[in-house]
Formats: sequence, structure tokens, C-alpha cells
Amino acid sequence: MQRTGLILANRAYLDHETPRSAGSSPSGGNGGLLATLRPVIEPWDGTSGTTWIGAGLGQFDSEWTDARGFELIETPRGTLRHRRLFFPSATWQGHYAEVSNSFLWPLVHLVRNDLPAATSYYPAPAAPSADDWEAFVAVNSAFAAAAAEETDADWCWVHDYQLALTPGFLRERRFPGKIGFFLHTPFPSVEVARPYLAGSAGYAFKQVVAGMLGADLLGFQTNGDVERFQRAALAFCGAELMEGAVAFEGHIVRTVCFPVGIDIEDMLEIANTAPTPPQAANAKLEGLPLVVGLERADYTKGIPERLRAIAEASRSGCRFAYLGIAAPTREGVRAYDALESAIEAAANEARQACMAAGGSFAHVRANVEWEDVVALQRVADVVFTSSLADGQNLVPLQAAIAQSLRPAPERAVILTGRDAGVASTFGAFSEQGLFAVEPLDHDALTHALIAALDGRLGRVSDRFVQEVRLNDAFAWSSSFLAALEEEC
Ligand code: F6P
Repeated sequence: MQRTGLILANRAYLDHETPRSAGSSPSGGNGGLLATLRPVIEPWDGTSGTTWIGAGLGQFDSEWTDARGFELIETPRGTLRHRRLFFPSATWQGHYAEVSNSFLWPLVHLVRNDLPAATSYYPAPAAPSADDWEAFVAVNSAFAAAAAEETDADWCWVHDYQLALTPGFLRERRFPGKIGFFLHTPFPSVEVARPYLAGSAGYAFKQVVAGMLGADLLGFQTNGDVERFQRAALAFCGAELMEGAVAFEGHIVRTVCFPVGIDIEDMLEIANTAPTPPQAANAKLEGLPLVVGLERADYTKGIPERLRAIAEASRSGCRFAYLGIAAPTREGVRAYDALESAIEAAANEARQACMAAGGSFAHVRANVEWEDVVALQRVADVVFTSSLADGQNLVPLQAAIAQSLRPAPERAVILTGRDAGVASTFGAFSEQGLFAVEPLDHDALTHALIAALDGRLGRVSDRFVQEVRLNDAFAWSSSFLAALEEEC
């Protein structure tokens, strides 16, 4: 029997950036979270299926929706019933730019290292002002109110830190279905984050933990995140710790690790046909090994650290082509201000060293076609990720699948930061293509790159690929929803 479920995500399934009169009908959304969630969608048949609720951020959204923000969207999984919530710009600024991305985003990545102290560019989490906090509460409460209008829903699955208060608001409203919440980011260590939790920041963090505790089922990327959350629930909210759960205000909240996966068929379809971009083809023609860096230009990704390792490896005599693509993200959010100059300085140094060693170097800040990203993941000899901390980091998973199209002896080595979820989820494959390293340890990062280029690290193995296939987006979403239904 088809169930009726709600997905609540800060972002809509897609943003309408063209007027309706232009006649083109949108076919699907982009972005990591959306691609991961696409398999969850049960086609809407008029009375049951999936309803997605997200914020209306597209310039022409209101032309496409009815007065309450509803629209039916055709997706690769069938028709999606979709609702957008619209907010005044000051409210959105307080919710998104300030609380979500100047306070919570830098905070949640404080897993093991005090990153603002360890780098020149990572921002200290900014304690929210009263107005900004009010905006965050207003947006979260509007999402809960919209979900509560769906009185037939069997479950509501809330996503990510931007909506951390929503499970609590749903419980207050006595939402009749089961409430699930998944945190796509890491959960911080209260010990590491302590310097940033004084005053209004401590109050806000406590509310976030209490809000998450409104769920019946809380999903995290790693067991480390589960443990850190449990410690915070005890320390900040007085929750009682149990095996795989916590008790809070008279109900039991299960806390479970569900590492997120990718859509394998979608990835393979593109990897099979995407043409090799010219810069990569040139490197191959010159016989240079190709090292790629691909991500959002975010301060959590360790981009300056990676560029320093590129410079150092070149100085030690390695000759290779580096192609780094950092997609602009969260432009206008103050917390990102220091990153660009740190990247620029490190990129200049890396360029000089690479060229002097007879290699080639390009670092671009640009949105490139997904097809080109996948092609680079397929042809690279080293896929160099270096997140200082990361929820899972889908790039190594995408790269493993794209690399599976090459003969095993020719495949790449994938480097990952040790505090990316993927390093613990796939920790068994450190000699089979996924090598984890501490990006703040300059020598260790440089040596890992040199070892990868020298062929001293294991390449992507069939077993690693198989494991990525088994833990795909379908497995992730169906195991989360099955666990949520068990609660019924
Ligand atoms: O979990 C991280 C996340 O918020 C994802 O939801 C999203 O795909 C990505 O970061 C980009 O975020 P934004 O919606 O702020 O562009």
C-alpha cells in the first residue's frame, strides 16, 4: 500500500528561474541533498504519495504555484506534489545567512579540531542576535505549521540543521504521523565547541538539541555523530541516555547511524557518456597524472590546505596536472569572506611550484556542468578531497563509481580528510582506494599526495565499488523509512 509522506527541506525540489510564459517546463532539481532524496519520492496519485515542502527562493516561483504555494512537478520518479513557503527577505536573511550559515554551519563541523583556532580563514560561529534567532524560529515554525496541515501524512521526514527546531514544533502541534530527522552534516563535540557556546550561542544550541529531540527517529551520518549528539542531549537538555536512544520529556527518541549514499544508476549513466573536458584531455596527452579537486567553495573543505600540499609535492619534484573547481556557494554570507583570499594566496603559490616542476595548474571558481564534474571524476588519477570535517562527502562515492568504468590497475586513488563521514563509513578500504589523512597536518597531506602519485597507495578496488553500490541512496532512504515505520 502506498504511504503518504512529507519531506521537509530548507530548499525546494527546484527553483523557478524562468517565467512561466517562457514555456519550458522544469524537469528536475540539482544538488547533493536533492539527488540523495530523489529515490524517496513516491509518485503523487491525487490522494497519496510524497509531498515535498521547501522554501520558495526562485525568482519566478510564485508564477508556477497556486495561492498556497502548491505545484505538481514531474520528476524522474513520477509526479511530485510540492509546496513552497515564502518568507520576507529580512526573515530569510536571519534564518539562512545568520543562524543557519554563520552560527550553525561553522559550529557543527567542530568535531575534533578547534577549526577557527587552527586556520586563518575558518570563521568562529557567530552567536545569533535576538532578531536573527526570532527569524530562525519563525521559519522552522512555518515549516511545522505547513506539515501539520497534511493531516493524512503517515510520516514527516525533516532534513538538516536549517530545520533543527522543526521536529520539536511538530511534536508541540501533535503531528499525527511519525517524525524523522536526518542531519546531513556532522554533529559537533560539545567539548571542542565549548568556547563558542557562551551566552546566546549556548541558548541557541540548547534549543537546537531540544528541537531535534522532538523526533521519533534521529539519523546521523556516523556513529561518532550519534555519540556526540547523545552527550550534548545529556549535557544541554538533561536527556536520559539509553542503548541506541535517548529519553526526553516522556518519549523515546531513537538515535541511529544511517550513512547517506548516492544514486548509482544516475551516476553511471552520466559517467558512461560524458566527454572528457579539454584541460583533462591535454594533461593526458602530455602524459601527466591528473589530480582533481571538486567541491563547493566552502571553508569546511580544506581547499587552502590542499593547495599547500600541491605546492609542496611539486617542490619535492612531483610532476602532475592539477585541476581544481570550486563552485561558488552561499555568496553574501559574511562567514565566507576570509576564504577567498586564503584560497587565492595558496593557489598562487601552488601554481608557481607546479609550473616550476613542469606540471600544469588551474584553480577555478565556477559552476561547471555536472557532466564535466563526472567526467573528471572518471579520468582523474588522484581525486583529492581534504575536508576539515564533513557530513559524509559524496565526492569520493561518486568518484569510486565513475572510476569503476576503468580497468582496475588504471584506477585512481581517492584522498579524503579523516573527519569526513566517508572516512569512517568506508574505513575498511584505506588500502583499496580511499586513503584518509588529517588535512591540518601539512606533512601528512603532502606525503599522502606524493604516495598516491608514486603508486604506493591502493587504487579503487572492485570491493570498494561494490560496497558503495550496496550503500546507495535507495538503501539509505529505505532503511531510514523502514526504521521510522517500525515506530508505528
Ligand atoms: O548539508 C549541507 C547542505 O546544506 C546541503 O543541504 C546542501 O546541498 C548544501 O549544503 C548547500 O547548501 P545551500 O542550500 O546553503 O546552498
